[in-house]
Amino acid sequence: MINGKHHVIITGTGHAVPTRVLSNLDLEQMVDTSDEWIRTRTGILRRRIADEHTATSDLATEAGRLALADAGVSPDELDLIIVATITPDMLFPSTSCLVQKNLGAWGAACYDLSAGCSGLIYGLDMAVRSIVSGGYRRALVIGADCVSKITNFQDRTTCVLFGDGAGACLVEAADKAGVLASYLGADGSGWDKLLLRGGGSRHPASAATLAAGWHYIEMCGNDVFKFAVRIMVEASLKVLADAGLEPGDIDLFIPHQANIRIIESAAQRLNLKEDQVYINVDEYGNTSAASIGIALDEAVRSGRIKGGDRILLVGFGAGLTWGAMIIEWVDKA
Ligand code: UT7
Repeated sequence: MINGKHHVIITGTGHAVPTRVLSNLDLEQMVDTSDEWIRTRTGILRRRIADEHTATSDLATEAGRLALADAGVSPDELDLIIVATITPDMLFPSTSCLVQKNLGAWGAACYDLSAGCSGLIYGLDMAVRSIVSGGYRRALVIGADCVSKITNFQDRTTCVLFGDGAGACLVEAADKAGVLASYLGADGSGWDKLLLRGGGSRHPASAATLAAGWHYIEMCGNDVFKFAVRIMVEASLKVLADAGLEPGDIDLFIPHQANIRIIESAAQRLNLKEDQVYINVDEYGNTSAASIGIALDEAVRSGRIKGGDRILLVGFGAGLTWGAMIIEWVDKA
């Protein structure tokens, strides 16, 4: 429940991933790694990688188009487009403006937000609050990333983890229950745990930043791992308490898909059963801001989510940031 009102539902979902598959066996040919190490330490079997002509806005547009079609809403009915991404097509203009142009959604205000892998939940929270406050009726929220474009494929500690994709949700004002609780948080003291150091105003792109590899993602994997397990549990318990629910009341838990060990540890601490947890990290790897949106769309389209189900979304990411949301699913009329 947001501000004591039940006023916002997700009426459409969509996702897009590139066609090119990069398997663990392919990675064995590129860096000193093994299928066995990647499978057992991360649960990832393969991931999708965008080709040189594809950028984040292309995947975001496709996912957005599918979400609009799913809801039966035309682009000119949109009031707001939010794209959550850490891999925008360029520093500016925003990727959301490029999506607006591609869709022809000329009536929509547009902005990007940077919350790492928590991006989709941050975007949903912003859209929900914008609608609840009465300002907007329809928002398209897209989590989209091409992390492959900022990955050093000679660094085995990061290149095996990530994949590209986009997940979208159409969010609309309604008179039925939908979003029951939403919670966001951040701890900027962890800014250097997961970052792209170069190319911004601190270290503008130069021959020196290129030589240092500052155009590639850097991560303290172990620190992020420990943070992730702790914060997924804390954030989940917070929204459950806000909604007056217990873990057993949740029909489907959709966590950020970063690592099967993180997901299993969090699920175990929340006392969730295996069939309450959605997992597709094996198929796509960590798709950053897209991951929860891809999983949600797959779960809806495969019939794993039905009207009345209670869904718990939870994510964590660069910043450091986190977010959790509980949605009571409403079938389309
Ligand atoms: O969306 C948020 C983004 N980030 C994350 O979610 C990442 C969270 N962290 C993780 O998922 C895990 O920390 C990793 C999967 C990144 C690493 O797993 P780990 O079990 O924490 O391994 P580790 O970093 O402790 O490394 C263990 C060993 C090291 O070798 P030594 O020092 O023990 O000899 C690494 O050098 O594994 C080695 N290693 C690899 N070996 C084969 C690291 N990457 C690889 C690799 N292949 N790809």
